[in-house]
Amino acid sequence: MGIANDWSIAWGIAEAAHKAGAKLIFTYPNASVEKRVRALAEKLADGGTPIPVYPCDVQADSQLITLNSVLEADGHQLDFIVHAIAFANKDELKGGISQTSREGFNLAMDVSCYSLLAVMKYLKPRLTQSASILTLTYEGSIKVVPNYNVMGVAKAALEAAVRYLAAEFGPQGIRVNAISAGPINTLAARGISDFTNMLKHHEATAPMRRLTTKEDVAGAALYLLSSLGSGTTGEVLNVDTGAHILGPTPAGM
Ligand SMILES: NC(=O)c1ccc[n+]([C@@H]2O[C@H](COP(=O)([O-])OP(=O)(O)OC[C@H]3O[C@@H](n4cnc5c(N)ncnc54)[C@H](O)[C@@H]3O)[C@@H](O)[C@H]2O)c1
Repeated sequence: MGIANDWSIAWGIAEAAHKAGAKLIFTYPNASVEKRVRALAEKLADGGTPIPVYPCDVQADSQLITLNSVLEADGHQLDFIVHAIAFANKDELKGGISQTSREGFNLAMDVSCYSLLAVMKYLKPRLTQSASILTLTYEGSIKVVPNYNVMGVAKAALEAAVRYLAAEFGPQGIRVNAISAGPINTLAARGISDFTNMLKHHEATAPMRRLTTKEDVAGAALYLLSSLGSGTTGEVLNVDTGAHILGPTPAGM
């Protein structure tokens, strides 16, 4: 869930999972994204079995209920779910957080955090024993990142949701984790004011002196989604070429 185009982190994970032998299902939230998702699904099908593609706007409970029914009717069980979904109004990804509107706050929280709870609520019947759920977060949840604003609050809530879900689903053998990715040039990220400077700063200062790639994230995702990660749940795994370890750097160092 969350492929918008071939820049998407979810697409990077899909390609890696496909290569590792996973049978995938894609979802899309609206007609304009559907076209691109179907084209990408065909790319992975490569003349073989087509990848099923279903509608699912995570803001609509009805669509999640329908998705569960359709998956059941089509005989699909889920070994894993990748939730790579977030949204906030562009106006609220700049300036001071105190300017956030109530509607904008609720929208960001609904799409970027509540949706993970809703996915678990409605797709629970489709999960196999030892299924693995993965969401995507960013360091702006625990540290102040200019312009990230309401999305930082939503990601903090999302990370808390991961822990609560991990505790709830753990007894059934179902794991819930997050990857905290470094900044990657995607459609969603471009909504953050001055994102290009964030990329430049990351590249110049991260311990590995390079940007995080969606392939970096996909590698960690395969660990968390597969039996390689069988003992890991409730975790927020940093995949950011080391940026999260840095403290304040005095000028000139
Ligand atoms: N790109 C980064 O720098 C970065 C860093 C850390 C975490 N993340 C997180 O990774 C995740 C994926 O984002 P991305 O950077 O790949 O960007 P992206 O724009 O490719 O993906 C965001 C996806 O959210 C989907 N979406 C938005 N509203 C939706 C709705 N109501 N229902 C269903 N889907 C909806 C969009 O269709 C899109 O596919 C997000 O949670 C994002 O916050 C991104």
